[in-house]
Amino acid sequence: MKRGRTVALLGAALGFAAAMCSPAIQADETTPTRVGQDAVCTRCHDESETKPILAMYQTPHGVTADGRTPSCQSCHGASAGHVAGDTEGKGRPAPDVIFGSKHTPAGYQPSDPLVQTEACLTCHKEGLRTHWSGSQHQLGDVVCSNCHTVHAANDPMLVKILQPEVCFGCHKEQRAQTKHISTHPLDAGKMACSDCHNPHGSSGPKLLVKNTVTETCLTCHAEKRGPFLWEHQPVNEDCTNCHTPHGSNISALLKSRPPFLCDECHDGPHNSQAPYGTAVGGIQGGGALAGGSPNSNAVGRACMNCHVMVHGSNSPTGAFLHH
Ligand code: HEC
Ligand code: HEC
Ligand code: HEC
Ligand code: HEC
Ligand code: HEC
Ligand code: HEC
Ligand code: HEC
Ligand code: HEC
Ligand code: HEC
Ligand code: HEC
Repeated sequence: MKRGRTVALLGAALGFAAAMCSPAIQADETTPTRVGQDAVCTRCHDESETKPILAMYQTPHGVTADGRTPSCQSCHGASAGHVAGDTEGKGRPAPDVIFGSKHTPAGYQPSDPLVQTEACLTCHKEGLRTHWSGSQHQLGDVVCSNCHTVHAANDPMLVKILQPEVCFGCHKEQRAQTKHISTHPLDAGKMACSDCHNPHGSSGPKLLVKNTVTETCLTCHAEKRGPFLWEHQPVNEDCTNCHTPHGSNISALLKSRPPFLCDECHDGPHNSQAPYGTAVGGIQGGGALAGGSPNSNAVGRACMNCHVMVHGSNSPTGAFLHH
């Protein structure tokens, strides 16, 4: 990707240089270069636009030397009527494809979502977009340009620190969650939503990059993957039995605070509310089994005062009591 960008910038620089030094290329619509092809539109849509149209030449879509690079018309359609102008006294007809969800400043209606996405998918059907059709975003009429900004030098989708803000525009709940005390380092720009989600569609639930929540988590937290001598069943089942992915006010992204977290599944003698009784192996604390003071459950690391390796352990002494 780095290499692609360098090439793109070079290409853009060359493209601009060519356009400036040689007015012939800029004006000639038959020139078989990107800049030449685009002149059909850029003779009107130039640097004077309020939105930065020509900044596209500084993106991968501006690599003029690459034969696969789209021209204005690959995306917006031939737009013959629009180019011809107001021939019927009803105003200039819209270009064939208008992107986005809102009317343009000129009052043109956005094209049907399927028309908009097809204009991009002609070149981008493969790879990450294999599951686009039928995905939550496709069914919700979200279009490529709701997320991507193709006319700007920096598409926020491809810049980790900028990406979440665009998603938050529609996903307010996740914005609130990521401001909690314990979160993934999204605000720091070390991660982005797309480290866990493929917003284009996925074969797993909730647009996750892998087929299950746990597989998604293990792409980075591989040390939590078993098999362990002493497994903790809910860890193998689903990390979200105990964690929440976006943010929590309890540290380590926990859904609730131990011992209450543990109590949700462990009743009887292992519940923190159990009356204390005989000590196990002389160990003080815990419920009835561990015996003694109930405080070991409530203080410090609660149940983890003793059950240190909550994700499972290989200790020969059993039941993830030790490192
Ligand atoms: C003869 C001049 C002319 C040509 C050539 C032309 N346009 Fe336009 N275009 C306009 C005008 C005038 C508008 C009205 C909005 C404005 O003021 O920019 C417009 C509006 C648009 C809009 C909506 C923008 C908005 O802000 O509402 C798009 C998209 C667009 N043109 C794309 C194209 C494309 C793609 C081409 C080449 C196929 C093209 N235009 C060729 C004059 C032209
Ligand atoms: C890769 C596809 C693609 C290409 C190539 C492309 N456009 Fe666009 N154009 C879009 C999308 C998508 C939008 C919606 C705004 C955005 O994403 O930046 C847009 C918006 C516009 C607008 C409206 C400005 C706005 O933000 O509402 C104009 C005018 C325009 N394009 C003209 C052109 C011209 C002129 C060219 C050729 C130099 C061109 N486009 C090349 C996809 C493309
Ligand atoms: C005519 C073919 C074509 C069309 C149409 C097209 N693209 Fe592209 N796109 C390319 C090429 C070629 C590249 C640069 C090489 C690559 O990354 O595969 C590219 C690159 C990109 C990238 C950047 C990839 C990167 O790694 O930096 C994004 C994002 C993108 N396109 C989105 C879109 C969107 C959104 C549309 C529709 C509005 C669209 N494209 C329409 C051919 C096209
Ligand atoms: C909900 C937001 C969203 C929508 C909608 C969306 N994208 Fe993306 N796109 C992203 C994000 C985020 C990335 C960065 C992915 C990554 O880094 O793994 C991306 C990356 C890309 C790339 C570059 C990476 C690659 O696959 O080579 C292309 C090309 C692309 N998108 C095309 C499209 C097209 C075409 C559409 C419409 C059919 C579309 N996107 C719709 C968010 C979106
Ligand atoms: C234009 C609004 C919009 C933007 C921008 C947007 N989304 Fe969405 N998103 C939706 C809609 C609509 C749905 C489908 C309805 C729903 O589940 O809320 C959806 C669904 C989802 C889902 C699946 C929810 C489920 O229940 O299966 C995830 C995950 C998601 N979006 C993540 C993202 C990410 C990550 C980004 C940014 C890269 C993003 N979205 C950008 C509108 C948007
Ligand atoms: C560490 C991985 C991870 C990151 C990073 C992440 N998510 Fe998620 N997201 C998940 C998991 C796992 C789920 C499904 C379980 C759940 O809802 O708690 C999910 C669910 C969702 C849902 C659906 C919620 C629902 O109620 O169904 C949306 C929307 C969403 N994420 C948006 C985002 C956005 C936007 C970002 C970036 C700000 C983001 N996510 C970052 C892992 C992640
Ligand atoms: C793309 C890599 C990546 C993925 C995927 C990922 N994480 Fe993380 N996780 C991180 C990073 C980076 C940190 C921060 C580590 C640090 O600060 O030392 C972290 C921290 C954590 C923490 C500790 C938080 C704290 O406040 O101490 C927990 C718990 C966690 N992740 C659980 C999960 C779960 C559950 C999933 C799956 C839904 C998941 N992670 C997916 C990279 C990832
Ligand atoms: C039974 C509840 C439970 C389940 C299920 C669970 N965790 Fe944890 N996790 C915890 C607790 C409790 C802590 C805090 C541990 C501590 O303070 O020593 C924690 C801490 C973490 C941490 C940060 C500290 C560290 O040990 O690195 C990460 C990362 C983490 N968990 C990832 C995961 C992943 C990935 C999964 C799924 C494979 C998972 N957890 C499943 C309870 C659980
Ligand atoms: C989502 C439910 C769930 C949660 C939450 C949970 N556990 Fe468990 N735990 C289980 C299940 C199921 C087993 C296996 C059956 C059994 O022994 O009861 C288990 C087994 C155990 C074992 C015995 C392991 C063995 O090898 O025999 C210990 C110790 C344990 N859990 C401690 C904890 C602690 C400490 C917490 C809180 C940090 C916790 N559990 C949270 C469901 C849960
Ligand atoms: C003071 C230490 C201590 C504390 C605190 C403690 N335990 Fe234990 N726990 C033990 C010991 C010792 C055993 C017996 C281990 C064995 O038999 O291998 C045990 C056994 C268990 C077992 C059953 C393991 C099996 O093999 O059947 C579970 C489940 C369990 N504890 C859950 C909890 C929960 C939940 C908490 C917090 C509410 C907790 N423990 C607090 C020491 C403690």
